[in-house]
Amino acid sequence: MTPRSSLFFLLAACTAAGVSGQVIKRDSGKLYAEMCAACHGAKLQGASAPSMLDDTWLYGNGDDESIAKSIRDGHPEKGMPPFGATLSASDVRGLVIFMREQRAGFGRPSRSGDAPTGVIKAKDHSFTVEIVADKLSHPWAVAFLPENKILVTEKPGRLRVIDNGKLLPEAIRGTPAVRDAGQGGLMEVALHPDYAKNGWIYLAYSDPAKDKNGRDVSLTVIVRGKIRDGAWVDQETIWKASIEFYRPGGGVHFGCRIAFDKDNYLFFSHGERGRGEDAQDLTKPNGKIHRIHDDGRIPVDNPFVDKPNAFKSIWTYGNRNPQGLDFDPRTGVLWETEHGPRGGDETNVIRRGLNYGWNTITYGMNYDGTPITDKTAQEGMEQPALYWTPSIAVCGIDFYEGDAFPKWKGHLLVTSLAKEELRLLTIDGEKVTGQQTLLANLGRLRDVGSGPDGSIYLVVNGPDRLVRLVPAK
Ligand code: HEC
Repeated sequence: MTPRSSLFFLLAACTAAGVSGQVIKRDSGKLYAEMCAACHGAKLQGASAPSMLDDTWLYGNGDDESIAKSIRDGHPEKGMPPFGATLSASDVRGLVIFMREQRAGFGRPSRSGDAPTGVIKAKDHSFTVEIVADKLSHPWAVAFLPENKILVTEKPGRLRVIDNGKLLPEAIRGTPAVRDAGQGGLMEVALHPDYAKNGWIYLAYSDPAKDKNGRDVSLTVIVRGKIRDGAWVDQETIWKASIEFYRPGGGVHFGCRIAFDKDNYLFFSHGERGRGEDAQDLTKPNGKIHRIHDDGRIPVDNPFVDKPNAFKSIWTYGNRNPQGLDFDPRTGVLWETEHGPRGGDETNVIRRGLNYGWNTITYGMNYDGTPITDKTAQEGMEQPALYWTPSIAVCGIDFYEGDAFPKWKGHLLVTSLAKEELRLLTIDGEKVTGQQTLLANLGRLRDVGSGPDGSIYLVVNGPDRLVRLVPAK
């Protein structure tokens, strides 16, 4: 390194690091306002320099790397200075995410119009929206029982039954107590694949516990039980970590979805509880997808059973907050959706023993607009099959298997909270080959399931209800 270039590196390092050597993280929106707005306009609309809201690009196709290159190298002969010496790689990454958000209208109300009524026309099918149950309280998940009965969980800790289209006023008695705080509460409900024979129903919830100092702590627990005469009976605990792994209070990122494969292995997701570094730590249960037998035993062929101190139920790691999990019935491939931070929501193909990267790599940044890292990829870490930056707040998913919408069969239905949309992904093997929005503005969509009648059921938060999509006549 010549003296000159080492000085250059020293300067570059000084701008990104404080006196203590700690990296100062800068808000990407503020950086844009200070360094770019004068030429490109406060809202990226263009001024002396071109607009960055349209789809006309002078350099590259508007992909992340071309934008990052423009920022680093500038276009000095055209009047844009290079920023590669003053901005760190993660600052540049933060600016790219900020530009993505602005282009997608981030910060404007997510509702682009009124709630849809009447016939809604999507590309291949038209449908109407029917309310199945209204006035629920923070519904979270839906499952379908035989004889036209539907189960819906309510986050505060109630399991509700809709019997032939009527919401029963009483919740199921005797379901476990939950800690309804932050994002935790009663979450998933799922039936055993042989439910007709054995009657097992699985619940996932945030366990209300106290640590040795008397502090409220919580983690996700999975139980199974049966419903008899309106009561929850025969409960067995299927998965529960010991208390030292519990995290304080209510808080964030519990997961939790359950999916069974064709051999009745139970897969479930556990969010990282706001501890990004735990997702990379195999001795911790949070930030993982787990695999257990239907009765909770650990399969002997799990990937980390022989690794000292590893959590034996771990199937994959580096998962931030997975809120969707389902098997493609045609291929047996497990698909997962995962909340990113600000940006970087993901759809992943979940394969045994792999690392999905959080919080070492991500397509998102911190909620305060500061970058997390410039790294979106790294050797030994999986890339998402699809990601959303800015985030749509991706939630529950379901492979559509009904007959009511034949052209959607085998496609993946994907819900979103913040964006309030139902999307349909076309899946070819382990690739996403298409994406369309079927519905918007109905409320925050928490979960989706195809009912035995082929209707598509949506768990909506705000207004709190269960609705279904039925083919238009
Ligand atoms: C002094 C004015 C000026 C400043 C400050 C400036 N730019 Fe530019 N920028 C330009 C001009 C002029 C062009 C167009 C170059 C051309 O016409 O070939 C440009 C082009 C670009 C492009 C390429 C657009 C395309 O169509 O491919 C990107 C991306 C970009 N700027 C981002 C930024 C960002 C982010 C910042 C702040 C870190 C910034 N610019 C700061 C003047 C500026």
